[in-house]
Amino acid sequence: MKETVRIGVIGLGGRGRGMLGELLGCEGVIVPAVCDKYEDRAREGAAIVLEKTGQPADVYLDYHALLAREDLDAVMCPTTWITHARIAVDAMRAGKHVAIEIGGAASIEECWQMVRASEETGKFCMLLENCCYDRNEMAIFNMVKQGVFGEIIHMQGGYQHDLRDEICLGRENRHGRLYNFQHRNGELYPTHQLGPISKVLGINRGNRYIALSAMASKSRGLNEWTRKHMGEGYDLNDYPFNEGDVVTTMLRCANGETVVLTHDCSLPRPYSRGYRVQGTKGLYMEDGNAIFLEGVTKDDPGNWMHAWEKFDAYRDEYEHPLWKQYRIDGVHGGHGGMDFLVLSAFVESLRLEAAPPIDVYDTAAWMAVTVLSEQSIAIGGAPVPFPDFTNGMWIDRAPFRRGVFCLDDVCTEFFDKES
Ligand SMILES: NC(=O)c1ccc[n+]([C@@H]2O[C@H](COP(=O)([O-])OP(=O)(O)OC[C@H]3O[C@@H](n4cnc5c(N)ncnc54)[C@H](O)[C@@H]3O)[C@@H](O)[C@H]2O)c1
Repeated sequence: MKETVRIGVIGLGGRGRGMLGELLGCEGVIVPAVCDKYEDRAREGAAIVLEKTGQPADVYLDYHALLAREDLDAVMCPTTWITHARIAVDAMRAGKHVAIEIGGAASIEECWQMVRASEETGKFCMLLENCCYDRNEMAIFNMVKQGVFGEIIHMQGGYQHDLRDEICLGRENRHGRLYNFQHRNGELYPTHQLGPISKVLGINRGNRYIALSAMASKSRGLNEWTRKHMGEGYDLNDYPFNEGDVVTTMLRCANGETVVLTHDCSLPRPYSRGYRVQGTKGLYMEDGNAIFLEGVTKDDPGNWMHAWEKFDAYRDEYEHPLWKQYRIDGVHGGHGGMDFLVLSAFVESLRLEAAPPIDVYDTAAWMAVTVLSEQSIAIGGAPVPFPDFTNGMWIDRAPFRRGVFCLDDVCTEFFDKES
């Protein structure tokens, strides 16, 4: 294992600065270079490095200059949705492994470019989908692997997050979301739930998405928000936003499962990823924190509608060993601790010089949903075929790398029996 790895960071908005701080908390990480096209943000990044490590970091405004350095093993890229793929490709072609923040693809071509760059250079491209490492998602994955839900038939999830202020104030805050909502209409943020769903379904390893269709509602939420909060005469009050308030996407898998994704960010609502896992023995639903397992959960025998039970006790019983260990060591960092886990997985792959748990085929397939949903919506919800970014390898892939951060199986052999 390498003792240290040298990582450049490109993109220092709110997320970039938060992730930089956490990255510096991972063992063996050195950040000698940071970059943002806004100088004040790039300098803030360098200040974080100095504060946390006592070491200076070089500041770049042009990411090509950062990539030209020969002393970097990798790059972390929390930039905007439409820049991740091209920076990832340039990074791999400059000889660096890369981790990109989440978002959807703008074209199928850019997904292929990532795949080809990774295959041709031998550098990996990992999507930093932190929700794959959330405590609930990992417990559910453990339950699936133990057959608790039987054979999986159907899954649901979504990004359901009231982001009206963040979207509408995009120009004032120099934030990237607004322009996407103005000009695009699709499942703009698919991976928070599609990541965990894809790992449960074995996508790219014996299974794959074969087609999707999507529909979008009308758009009203953002106009209502600006009218209320920005006052009369504000230029977005009557702006014809393209993005529908609720976008629903349905995917079908080669092995017959179906998946429904919901994108819902411009209406008032509490946060939920709406996770649902349904198999031949029962189902889990995030909304309601509810589970029903035939013959297992407490049921009311006289009630033909059956009864839900709270999920909490099941989560404790089926806690993923990574989380058992993490809770003993002390959970820390953003988003309930999952940010630190996904970064630790990235750093572990760099230090071992081994495949990451989310690889370029996962990255391409999960991100592709955005552009495919835009295409489907544009043609009235008609199904569109899903590319096979593995070029047939999904049928018979080389085995995945087992380890503490593995997302393709629960690798109990890496954990103490006690934990
Ligand atoms: N996984 C999560 O839980 C989570 C949470 C928040 C944000 N995110 C994702 O993180 C990413 C960043 O989010 P944010 O809120 O910080 O966005 P942001 O728009 O505030 O920041 C993006 C930064 O990237 C910089 N950038 C863009 N193109 C660049 C280029 N070519 N060269 C150098 N810098 C460039 C911008 O100047 C900006 O400072 C997004 O993809 C977002 O969806 C993920």
